[in-house]
Amino acid sequence: MRRIEFHNRENEIKEIRSILHAEPSLITFIYGPINSGKTTLVSHLIEELPEAYAPFYINLRTKFLSSYDEFIESLFEMEMETDGTKQKRKETLAELVSSVTKVAGIPINKEFLDYVFKDNKPKNAFSYIIKLFEEVKSAGKQPVLVLDELQKIGDVKVNGFLIYELFNFFIDLTKEKHLAHVFVMTSDSLFIEQIYSEAMLNDRCRYLLVDDFDEETTTAFLDEYGFSDDEVAVAWKYCGGKPICLVELVSAQDNRKGKAEEMLKIRKGQIEEIVYSLEARDKGMFDPVMGVLSEFIGKEKVGYKYISDEIEFLVGKNIIFADSVNKELRAQSKLNLLAIREVMESV
Ligand SMILES: Nc1ncnc2c1ncn2[C@@H]1O[C@H](COP(=O)(O)OP(=O)(O)OP(=O)(O)O)[C@@H](O)[C@H]1O
Ligand SMILES: [Mg+2]
Repeated sequence: MRRIEFHNRENEIKEIRSILHAEPSLITFIYGPINSGKTTLVSHLIEELPEAYAPFYINLRTKFLSSYDEFIESLFEMEMETDGTKQKRKETLAELVSSVTKVAGIPINKEFLDYVFKDNKPKNAFSYIIKLFEEVKSAGKQPVLVLDELQKIGDVKVNGFLIYELFNFFIDLTKEKHLAHVFVMTSDSLFIEQIYSEAMLNDRCRYLLVDDFDEETTTAFLDEYGFSDDEVAVAWKYCGGKPICLVELVSAQDNRKGKAEEMLKIRKGQIEEIVYSLEARDKGMFDPVMGVLSEFIGKEKVGYKYISDEIEFLVGKNIIFADSVNKELRAQSKLNLLAIREVMESV
């Protein structure tokens, strides 16, 4: 199997670097369609960060978050107790700071963790993080907090929704204290829509779209793996610039066109299953859903005013991506667009 190297995304990297160079003042929301390469991009940037930065990266994707306690646990990384004779336990914040390594959660020890869990209040956790970040800063480093898949905490409640407490904390870290850069990542368009219309966050955030590769980047990426011109054309036709789809074609060395056609066939079948089972169960919803899909027969982008039930349905099924900032609907990928068109042709 061929190893896929990180392919440079110059524009996005430049933009994030310029944010990192300035004093923290806004929360940055990194959003984009599914599998557009958000996590890969940010992980790469973290690896390349100069020593002057202390990144804390937390990916909530694999965490099970049904309660407040589980959320708190997901943020922190317990300092491992090593054999007492060899290494002294880290007791103070300064000692914990010295153990900060790249790409990890927020370090904590048993005593601080007890404090954080005391009273079941997010405030304790947040004040611990602020103290730790202040310590990081006085050690000469700039803290960078990254939360991936943040939409997972949308349903967690603690005296109201945790998400609001968390946003207030982020505002405190950025605009108020200028203490840490805060990046929040998600591919859930409905979550971004909710955030975008949240009055509390007006003028306190910036939104950065990490989209599929453009045509030039796609061609450059495929050139690295020896694609012929015909193969590049096939890849662009079926996958557009969706990195994960392109990676599939890199692996399918013998028959790239066959592989692309097979992927389309599979996606078409899945979309048919979704819409026709909807027709059987809920005709009232089926008609407007088909109405939205029919707009994509002749267009790639469709404007919208608000997230209606039918849009929510299609977004929830990962067929459509809603770009709240630009108020545009698109297929989640080129493959989805082609599949939608084939399904609509056969109606
Ligand atoms: N810049 C890149 N260079 C090479 N491969 C990439 C790049 N970006 C993404 N990929 C490939 O695409 C896959 C999906 O990317 P990634 O998981 O980063 O997307 P994502 O936008 O975070 O997805 P999700 O919407 O699920 O959060 C990666 O596993 C990798 O194989
Ligand atoms: Mg991701």
